[in-house]
Amino acid sequence: MSRSTIGVIGGGQLARMMYAPAIKLGIDLRLLAEGPDVGAARVFKHVTVGDYTDEQTVRDFASECDIITFDHEHVPTSILRHLESDGKLVRPGPDALQYAQDKLLMRERLTTSLDAPAPVWQACADADELKAFGERIGFPIIAKASRGGYDGHGVWKIETSDQASIPFAEALSRSAGEKVEIIGEEFVDFARELSVIVVRSPSGQAVCYPVSETIQKAGVCRETITPAPGLSDEQATRITKLGLDIADELQITGVLAVELMQRRDGSVVVNELAMRPHNTGHWTIDGAHTSQFENHLRAVLDLPLGDPRARDPWCVMVNVLGGSHEDLPSELLHCFARDPKLRVELYGKQVRPGRKVGHVNCYGDDLDEVRGRAEHAARYLMGEIGMKGER
Ligand SMILES: Nc1ncnc2c1ncn2[C@@H]1O[C@H](COP(=O)(O)OP(=O)(O)O)[C@@H](O)[C@H]1O
Ligand SMILES: [Mg+2]
Repeated sequence: MSRSTIGVIGGGQLARMMYAPAIKLGIDLRLLAEGPDVGAARVFKHVTVGDYTDEQTVRDFASECDIITFDHEHVPTSILRHLESDGKLVRPGPDALQYAQDKLLMRERLTTSLDAPAPVWQACADADELKAFGERIGFPIIAKASRGGYDGHGVWKIETSDQASIPFAEALSRSAGEKVEIIGEEFVDFARELSVIVVRSPSGQAVCYPVSETIQKAGVCRETITPAPGLSDEQATRITKLGLDIADELQITGVLAVELMQRRDGSVVVNELAMRPHNTGHWTIDGAHTSQFENHLRAVLDLPLGDPRARDPWCVMVNVLGGSHEDLPSELLHCFARDPKLRVELYGKQVRPGRKVGHVNCYGDDLDEVRGRAEHAARYLMGEIGMKGER
């Protein structure tokens, strides 16, 4: 049976960045996109425009593909289960994907079957339960919608018991009537956030990238530093083992990103899981021997996985968020003239304030120098600074 046509559901930058490795691997990568102009639809040769929540649309698209994979986690699992019963390979499969779709299921599963470190948490049915949870463990607390959140939408810091009704009202208004559960979590006063990226194939081979430090602002990833500075070998090994154990326990195919929070005493807790290439793995495109995108496709195809190690001592990725420049490719003149080793990826998206429109990667021996170059380029592309670095 041929395995050479892979269908990707979701047309964002993650699908777009799978395209270059798909060309190298000689596979036919097809897209089910939300619209004709989304970032990935601008580069894929075979594009179907349609609604990924419509079962017939997804089935028709899948009928032309050998294997299905994803740019996001939002395809309803009921549809994916039907694809599987049609005999289609879905990677990652719905049994795994549900733990990336639903933070409450994830907390329950990781606690019961792996005893993975977590903040104190509790499912809360209503504002009174959330309030009682906060009173028990002490405010502030974090409230999270179990489903549908991204980039900090669906996460609330609750300072006092009066605010306990806010997440229920906001989550309900955004969920279009669908039931959303709220999880109360201990507010972790973390020293920093970390991420570990594992790739696992159906045969059970798995590789793990070096642990990254990740910097979020207002819920949006802004920067990653790899390897995470100051992480001891012992901590890095423990985190790597945690990532591999989760991938194995949940039988994940493809990329698993484990977002972590590191407490001030050095210990870590799991924040959430993603089962697709992840923003905190974009450094691997230029900074690792095999990128997360190529390894994702290799895993989906059940090919041997590539070397995940870093090429250089340090790699810094900085996201480019939409700012005052509309025509980003034209702004590359200054960036490339200033820094021949700079690596840039633009997502072909319309520039809107705060939207992720690209990223830059820099790598080298000296962290301060590498970080300074990456931040300069990203800030220039965002229109925050001029050619000489002035504001
Ligand atoms: N229990 C917590 N304590 C403190 N900060 C948290 C907690 N949970 C989440 N956060 C912060 O909120 C951010 C977004 O939360 P996350 O669950 O990852 O949502 P999203 O799906 O939007 O990425 C995290 O990256 C972290 O900065
Ligand atoms: Mg997150």
